[in-house]
Amino acid sequence: MKVLGIETSCDETAAAVVEDGCTLLGQMVASQMDLHARFGGVVPEVASRQHVEHITRVIAEAMRDAAVTWADLDGIAVTCGPGLLGSLLVGVSAAKSLALATGLPLVPVHHIAGHVAAALIDRRAALPFLALVVSGGHTELLWVDGSFRFRKLGGTQDDAAGEAYDKVARMVGLPYPGGPAVDHLATTGNPAAYAFPRSMMDESNYDFSFSGLKTAVLNEVNRLRQQGQPIPTADLCASFQAAVIDVLVAKTMRAAKETGAKQLVVAGGVAANRGLRAALTTATAHAGLPVHFPPLALCTDNAAMIAAAGCLLLAQGRTAGLDLDAYANLTLSDWQESRFPVRR
Ligand code: KG4
Ligand code: ZN
Repeated sequence: MKVLGIETSCDETAAAVVEDGCTLLGQMVASQMDLHARFGGVVPEVASRQHVEHITRVIAEAMRDAAVTWADLDGIAVTCGPGLLGSLLVGVSAAKSLALATGLPLVPVHHIAGHVAAALIDRRAALPFLALVVSGGHTELLWVDGSFRFRKLGGTQDDAAGEAYDKVARMVGLPYPGGPAVDHLATTGNPAAYAFPRSMMDESNYDFSFSGLKTAVLNEVNRLRQQGQPIPTADLCASFQAAVIDVLVAKTMRAAKETGAKQLVVAGGVAANRGLRAALTTATAHAGLPVHFPPLALCTDNAAMIAAAGCLLLAQGRTAGLDLDAYANLTLSDWQESRFPVRR
């Protein structure tokens, strides 16, 4: 079974073809990162226009890379939410037009389900498993069952982990997207230089909060600036990253223990973080729990993950009609039950 995946929820226009949910045949990602970097973050209107400009070429190039024609495909999977509405609409409209023109089934994919499915490529992980999804918009602990159905154990109450990285990077003058820059600098700084808060770490739920940590870094930066002192960027990055990692690792390991998980999958843009990878590798090795991180290129937004999820969903007949829309705030449970909100 070969599925074309389309992803346009934020600032990457991406298409890919995956076979049987695990073999990536070809892909193309057109990143708008450099364009948005000038503004210090994603500008939704600019993103939508870029998607419109690139989507047709990106799909054609992904199919050429995969050496497939429309006749070789079994379905078209597309991210229908959550994300930037204008951006999502471009992908959904393209997917619907192609489904109508080719007669191929349309498969609606939740962006987070896509991130999780990245771990299935090359059979790195096998269902069921516990998943920690850490991206620019999400920080969630999910139980993913053998049918690729999701049970949310907990999530962030305010900022997502990646969002906190981006905001802290901006405070200390690092370019957008901040995650990779903070990650890089953290390796040269002292993680114990500042005792930043580990919010909610000792609470018995699986929820997270990163907004207090972000404010603590901001207060420190402001204090140093007011005193005319130099900003020890590397130490601030290392101490901030240590706080994020401590909380993510503690809660994930507790969830693994309490769910009796036999595997852990870490997905989303922040799964590219070297400090987090190292800390979780150590903690899981200690607990005898196999851990899977998608390769770096499949951690950040891409369409291979959407096509991989699409294969699993198509095999279960989880398709949509041509009345599918784009849903900026789609929850995993609404998507799972095909409860697509009506947009006004
Ligand atoms: O999954 P993703 O590409 O987009 C969303 O769905 O949000 O994640 C992007 C986020 C950004 O906040 C970016 O700063 C963060 O992932 N990120 C990282 C690293 N690479 C990307 N955060 C920490 N360390 C990294 N190495
Ligand atoms: Zn994402």
